Amino acid sequence: GCRMWTLAWLGMASLCLGAAWAVPAKERRKAEKPKADLALYENLDLDNYDLTLDNYGEILDLSNYEELYDYGDLAPKIEVGTLAPRPKDPETLPNLGATAETPKLQPPSTAGPLHPAPFPGQGLPSCLLCLCVGTSVYCDDANLEHIPRLPPDTTYLYARFNRIGAVRAGDFTGLKKLKRIDLSSNSISWADVDAFRLLPSLQELILPQNRLTALPELPHSIVRLDARLNRIPSTGLRPEAFRDLKQLQFLHLSDNQLDFIPAPLPESLRSLHLQNNNIQTMHEDTFCDSQDHSQIRRALEDIRLDGNPINLSLFPDAYFCLPRLPTGRF
Ligand SMILES: *[C@@H]1O[C@H](CO)[C@@H](O)[C@H](O)[C@H]1NC(C)=O
Repeated sequence: GCRMWTLAWLGMASLCLGAAWAVPAKERRKAEKPKADLALYENLDLDNYDLTLDNYGEILDLSNYEELYDYGDLAPKIEVGTLAPRPKDPETLPNLGATAETPKLQPPSTAGPLHPAPFPGQGLPSCLLCLCVGTSVYCDDANLEHIPRLPPDTTYLYARFNRIGAVRAGDFTGLKKLKRIDLSSNSISWADVDAFRLLPSLQELILPQNRLTALPELPHSIVRLDARLNRIPSTGLRPEAFRDLKQLQFLHLSDNQLDFIPAPLPESLRSLHLQNNNIQTMHEDTFCDSQDHSQIRRALEDIRLDGNPINLSLFPDAYFCLPRLPTGRF
């Protein structure tokens, strides 16, 4: 009996050994040379990154970026009008501020801090008024006059076609996951300077067709700013407003009242839309460093200056680093 067990054991052991040897030679070599492989992966990553950036430009026609980018999070397409039950009388809308601050009416929470309710108290009003799908909040065309209180894990906010007049510093407080805010087509004439600055994940701030006369400060995470069709003069931009935004790729300020091209522009910038402003002149160093004629700004391939009084022929030394000449009057 004892011998049988030993034999069986040996059989098992050899099976295991066989399995070990069946590991492909490649895999074992990888384990033996972690340093070499690590270096290889780094190179691969860099290559892939370049490829991705190149492909991006091919897939997305940058000149049509505004139209194409809508619903980039691939949320299910939702018909406007089915978003929120429209109250018959606007006066019956719940008072968001009051509803959100009714701690006395809340039953004492029995759940521990690790298991909060999906939208603890304050998030509820926005998900009654709006449609919450996953972490996206859709408030389009919902007659809003203020930014609603948002669930703390909100990632995307769509509040287009409303009557929002201002964005306050407290409106987005603590929304650490918020990546995109779309407030297209409201009546926003004022945004507190800190309304967006402290949002650590914000990549896209979309504010076209409002009444802004000044831009608020932007977080360093911002990739795309769209403030087309507002009333922003150059004095509405802080000096060097975009210099330190190292992630900024799309800066769309067409149809405003700018007198100058905002400079310096970060190296990350790919698309600068300034058409239909009041730009009459520019500095030789706006796009390229006139002291460094070997400079190449491969990323900055989409500059629009058409619809401005500027005659681009008068600045022949301003474009040498660009992959393409700006669009405009020569
Ligand atoms: C722009 O300036 C150039 C050089 O002075 C001139 O030849 C050209 O006619 C101007 N173009 C326009 C549209 O005014």
